[in-house]
Amino acid sequence: AKLSFHHNDGNVDVLDVDTGASVMRAAVTNGVPGIVGECGGNAMCATCHVYVREPYLASLPEISDDEEEMLDCTAAPRDEARSRLGCQLVLDNGLAELEVDVPDNQV
Ligand code: FES
Repeated sequence: AKLSFHHNDGNVDVLDVDTGASVMRAAVTNGVPGIVGECGGNAMCATCHVYVREPYLASLPEISDDEEEMLDCTAAPRDEARSRLGCQLVLDNGLAELEVDVPDNQV
């Protein structure tokens, strides 16, 4: 699956990730800056906050109660339409490609 991280300095990290990997895990494993993943993917820290780009918003999974709660605790401002926790976004057949913007800060 193709996963792109857009940074505010204009850099873009493009990864080819295995099906089943989360956005957070893929970023941490590949050393993509700006994604921390402090809680290890349990929707408990909000340091994996990303802004999802169009046209992928419609393909995302529902926001769980835990994710909803943590999205109100992000370091960078929440964008009601585009903010998600990277650990809750798994690349699979329904989401074979994804592009996100990485916030300026996570803590
Ligand atoms: Fe902690 Fe995603 S890694 S909320």
